[in-house]
Amino acid sequence: MNILENLNWRYATKRMTGEGIDKEKTATILEAIRMAPTSLGLQPFKVLVIENKEIREKMKPVCFDQPQITESAYVLVFAVYKDNYTQLADDYINLVAKTRNQSIESLEDYKNRIMYYITGKDNTAWAARQAYIAFGFGLATAAMLHVDTTPMEGFNPEELDKVLDLENKGLKSVVIMAVGKRDANNDYLVNLPKVRKAEEDFFIHL
Ligand SMILES: Cc1cc2nc3c(=O)[nH]c(=O)nc-3n(C[C@H](O)[C@H](O)[C@H](O)COP(=O)(O)O)c2cc1C
Repeated sequence: MNILENLNWRYATKRMTGEGIDKEKTATILEAIRMAPTSLGLQPFKVLVIENKEIREKMKPVCFDQPQITESAYVLVFAVYKDNYTQLADDYINLVAKTRNQSIESLEDYKNRIMYYITGKDNTAWAARQAYIAFGFGLATAAMLHVDTTPMEGFNPEELDKVLDLENKGLKSVVIMAVGKRDANNDYLVNLPKVRKAEEDFFIHL
């Protein structure tokens, strides 16, 4: 199957069978998410991988009782750093120095630019945009592997943060990806064609 066939194969799955996902495919999806680019390279978010059924049962009511939370194989919760961006920048510079065998001093200008960008403001909206890029990488990679997903914003973030104790982890939830196998017998969406704007209504060629 080619790329566009795979993207057409995927859909926001409403009902899943509860079956597990091949470990290698899961590893590929997670790695694609980790490899996604982020502004300044900071990766200002974390991804919680939640297979535990008990936790997902607790999540379900604050996710408007959407069945995919418990019918999936696992859910990925993308959560941005609430604060401490200075520490995040420090850690990043240290990681660059170690990974590329460079001195911290040689990265001083770069560090200053990062600090200028992140200091004195609420960075969480910016961080959420970075998380969504990785989220998209995950959705597309899953489609290429014929793994079903549901992108989900239908949840109460404050309540979910309490269920997952995110406050104490310095995090705030922004979006969820349920990962699993479509229940073709019970999902009304499974055979419906995609609804998308026509090319001429969508692209502006200048
Ligand atoms: C960020 C985001 C949040 C979404 N939230 C939900 C959700 O909470 N529950 C749900 O069933 N679908 C959700 N959707 C699915 C969209 O309704 C769906 O992607 C859109 O209608 C296009 O259909 P398709 O993904 O099946 O091609 C969400 C999609 C995105 C991208």
